[in-house]
Amino acid sequence: MVLAIAIDGPAGVGKSTASKMIARSLGFKYIDTGAMYRAVALGAARAGVDFSDDGALERFCGAVKIEFDETGERIRLNGEDYTGLIRTQEAGDAASRASSRPPVRRALVAMQRRMAEAGRVVMEGRDIGTVVLPDAPVKFYMDARPDVRARRRHGELHGAGIEAVAKGMAERDMRDRTRADSPLKPADDAVVIDTSDLGLDEVVARMMKVVSERVS
Ligand code: DC
Repeated sequence: MVLAIAIDGPAGVGKSTASKMIARSLGFKYIDTGAMYRAVALGAARAGVDFSDDGALERFCGAVKIEFDETGERIRLNGEDYTGLIRTQEAGDAASRASSRPPVRRALVAMQRRMAEAGRVVMEGRDIGTVVLPDAPVKFYMDARPDVRARRRHGELHGAGIEAVAKGMAERDMRDRTRADSPLKPADDAVVIDTSDLGLDEVVARMMKVVSERVS
């Protein structure tokens, strides 16, 4: 069994911040799978790949190389730094569309499993506990009320109005939760944490308590 912590949930629940803090305090590697979907979607769009063409997506994903730096905060696609390009609402929407396509998921799930092989990883995403690492000894599913999530995302996305953020988020949620391949949902054995009324420190403290109980 690989020593992995799976953290899933929708956008705006505090997943990335909590995942990074847990990884840092345990000395584990941090892997942001959402960044991988964002980078691949952007790279494919730039290469003129039609997202409804599964053959073209498969060819693109089969040849793509994704690398993270030591901290897991910087991402390169085919040698080019994509870190600054992927944090826009457009990249998020493209990622949500691309991530519903089976060839994209197949390729990225295989990469993610290889990245986790050595163990001691905190991997965050939408399907980590259910599909990528179903045997992970610690799984969390983070959630929060839609209004709270929209407010948090609005704070991160400079320029976009709150209504537009809430609308984009609702559309993305719907797509992520209802797609046929690996929909967003808690694993049966995940610890569910509602972060609506909790501060970050409280969230992380609760998660670290679960980690210490499950990983001795
Ligand atoms: O977490 P994020 O907003 O960066 O993710 C971008 C999109 O990628 C999101 O709409 C759903 C998709 N995604 C996924 O399908 N599976 C994952 N493991 C991670 C992200």
